Amino acid sequence: MNGKFITIEGIEGAGKSTQLTFIKNYLTAQGKELVVTREPGGTVLGEQIRSLLLTPSDIAMAVDTELLLMFAARAQHVAQVIKPALDAGKWVISDRFTDATFAYQGGGRGISQQRIEQLAQWTLNGLEPDLTFLFDLPVELGQQRVLSRNQGKDRFEQEEVDFFQKIRDCYLQRAKHQPSRIKVIDSSRSISDIEQQLSAILDSI
Ligand code: TMP
Repeated sequence: MNGKFITIEGIEGAGKSTQLTFIKNYLTAQGKELVVTREPGGTVLGEQIRSLLLTPSDIAMAVDTELLLMFAARAQHVAQVIKPALDAGKWVISDRFTDATFAYQGGGRGISQQRIEQLAQWTLNGLEPDLTFLFDLPVELGQQRVLSRNQGKDRFEQEEVDFFQKIRDCYLQRAKHQPSRIKVIDSSRSISDIEQQLSAILDSI
């Protein structure tokens, strides 16, 4: 039996990492064999591409370069990690996947959804998550949480509020159109409420 493919999405500061740990522990306790990974990244090559994408630089990166690098890292990730794990019956949890490209490069950078769709069809061969958790909260709250981490900002985190607002809108729009796959989780609720909601959804797949 094939494993399940779960992805985790949301704007900066939406609490993905905390909830990823909960999801990982919950599924492990059920005896699932898990592969936990992330995008951009998840492979040696992909992590090198991540560094190109996230490290702030004086050289302005063209939006198409950004888009193609995301898919270059993803092609490697799918071939080397995701597909083999699913074929072996393992469950894969990825911190971000193609919905992030639609939201960031589409909504945020303004590349047409159709253009991204073409690249997705080319590189993914129909691979889609079985379930996506979209952690949602107002952009200003997310930004406050990022600031409180007290780390240097990466190339995306340096963007203005308006950029993240467009990303949030795009994520929510996608969730509206694909409600059976994309489950919106209100990140402003208490941790125990969120965990309850996550476990109910995980029990249902
Ligand atoms: P992270 O901070 O959640 O690890 O994600 C790294 C950054 O990369 C985050 O700002 C979102 C961005 N990103 C895209 O712009 N497009 C994508 O397709 C992916 C996977 C991530």
